[in-house]
Amino acid sequence: MKAGFYQFNPSFGKKEENIEKVVLAVRETDIDLLVLPEFFATGYQFVSHDEVADLSETIPQGQTTEALLALSREKGIYIVAGLPEMAGDKFYNSAVFTGPEGLIGVYRKTHLFFEETLFFTPGDTGFKVWDTKIGRIGIMICFDWFYPESARTLALMGADVVAHPANLVLPFCPDSMPVRCLENMIFAVTANRTGTEQRKENQSLTFIGKSEIVSPRGEILIRAPEDEEVIMVMDIDPAAARDKSLNQFNDILRNRKPQFYGPLS
Ligand code: ACM
Repeated sequence: MKAGFYQFNPSFGKKEENIEKVVLAVRETDIDLLVLPEFFATGYQFVSHDEVADLSETIPQGQTTEALLALSREKGIYIVAGLPEMAGDKFYNSAVFTGPEGLIGVYRKTHLFFEETLFFTPGDTGFKVWDTKIGRIGIMICFDWFYPESARTLALMGADVVAHPANLVLPFCPDSMPVRCLENMIFAVTANRTGTEQRKENQSLTFIGKSEIVSPRGEILIRAPEDEEVIMVMDIDPAAARDKSLNQFNDILRNRKPQFYGPLS
């Protein structure tokens, strides 16, 4: 299965331009699972509720999801991509999962970061894994990585590959994902963005790039540079994430001792 990400610098508010950039990038690319950044079509730094309301979309009827559905169908590919979702009077930091067969699912970000907490409602979907023709795909969004429970939950639900749309600004995630992957023996595809947004005085956000694909043994299979727009693809075997044994005595998920993990829930 060819998994990959498109790391780029979306222009704030310019949905059509950002979506078109994705379409052009994947047109010539041989890929089965494409992961795009968090808020890939809108940009990240919202400064008002009106702006959030203006740029958020319903799912699946909405410009961004419709474009992704068309791209999935046309190229016969699976896509996981982040967008601000409007649902009734609530707004979520969401990711859609589309495939040649249509909309596969939606995940709403559980752990909101920084000023997202001003504008968005914490996700109510919980973590989900979808069993597809290309493998069992789970989703977490950006800061969800900081909580090891996110990746663990997805692994316990049977994920082979965690698709991870991101807009990382802190430096920690790229070097932490190998641990998340190793401790759960899963693949992860982190799709981050590049560039800087300064939509408020005295507050600029620089996104750190370094999108990557990590193996169930915690190896960084590919990593993008910090500040380059790039589409990268890697052949992976999702089934390699299904054998959780380290040796004949240790199966890392089966050997858990939840009776001693009480405070976790
Ligand atoms: C983040 O969750 N966008 C850092």
